[in-house]
Amino acid sequence: MTTAAPLVDRFGRAHTDLRVSVTDRCNIRCHYCMPATGIVFRPHPEILTFEEIERFVTIAARLGVKEVRLTGGEPLVRRGIVRLVAMLAAVPGVADLAMTTNGILLPQFGAELKNAGLRRLNVSLDTLDRGRFQEISRRDELPRVLEGIAAALEIGFEKIKLNAVAVRGQSEPDIVPLARFAREHRLELRFIEFMPLDGDDRWSRQNVLPGEMILQSLAAAIGPLEPLSDPSDPAPASTYRYVDGGGTVGVIPTVSQPFCDRCSRLRLTADGKIRNCLFGRDEFDARGLIRSGGSDEQLVELIRSAVWAKRRQHGSDDGDFSQSSRIMHQIGG
Ligand code: GTP
Ligand code: 5AD
Ligand code: SF4
Repeated sequence: MTTAAPLVDRFGRAHTDLRVSVTDRCNIRCHYCMPATGIVFRPHPEILTFEEIERFVTIAARLGVKEVRLTGGEPLVRRGIVRLVAMLAAVPGVADLAMTTNGILLPQFGAELKNAGLRRLNVSLDTLDRGRFQEISRRDELPRVLEGIAAALEIGFEKIKLNAVAVRGQSEPDIVPLARFAREHRLELRFIEFMPLDGDDRWSRQNVLPGEMILQSLAAAIGPLEPLSDPSDPAPASTYRYVDGGGTVGVIPTVSQPFCDRCSRLRLTADGKIRNCLFGRDEFDARGLIRSGGSDEQLVELIRSAVWAKRRQHGSDDGDFSQSSRIMHQIGG
């Protein structure tokens, strides 16, 4: 229900997707997202309440936001998450409510989430090898993730995607087995290029496994692929179809082929800051405004100024990444 001018930035990009991080905590410790030790989580009083999130989403929806995705950390470790899903599913104008999760708690919450109005799930899965899963995430949780995916399939969400972060020197042996697994279960697998938002300072351009190389490996091992996605589609993934009819596969080439010119996304962090880009340092303090009694009109202005301040690209002028002020678990992906 859009009752105001839509959220268009200086470069004409309309912002229709909102990613809401509900916690910076997680039950595993993927190296590309969190450091092994020394993590400082935001204290609970700094985290937005469900009512504060609902108010923000309601206002964003009036400004044309249609898709809301819940992220973390791991969203399912936030206590009461099913209640939040039900609250957001009821917000007028929210046509699509989705979640990105590591899957571990899906056997416990999957059915309730669906009943509460969650439509789509993206589950992170980087490997089917238990040892490598443990190296990547520093926890031995692959069996529970696979149970989570099985539970989600059984519950029958509208769409389930798999996300695999592709790191050079780590992911090569996983690409083909993951693709075969996804084909077998008719899941849409996307390989995400490793982004400089990790907790260990391991990122370098040399550690990025380009989407193009992944597609070549898949074509060689499984069979030919043909492009599927519409180049104007704001979804970050470039999607391909197996010519043999075995489903689709995608790559999210943030590093090798930035898709900033199609970006339709706005982010709300768990501690209530609006971010207009995964990278960069600009933040707009929604929590401060809400807790100091700000009006709906003031919140609209804050959201509009966040969108208006958005840069054309995530990189600085020399085409390199600007330094993000947060790492992945503090933003939510
Ligand atoms: P759908 O297309 O709606 O399924 O969701 P999604 O692909 O945006 O969601 P998901 O949370 O699964 O994100 C997959 C990866 O894409 C994550 O690593 C995100 O950080 C990355 N991503 C999502 N949106 C953006 C964006 O605006 N910019 C960049 N650079 N990466 C993004
Ligand atoms: N680079 C790329 N993708 C990442 N993710 C987390 N950290 C990174 C990173 N540094 C992915 C997760 C999840 C999604 C939200 O982001 O695996 O699927
Ligand atoms: Fe947890 Fe996801 Fe970060 Fe891994 S990438 S540590 S599953 S929040």
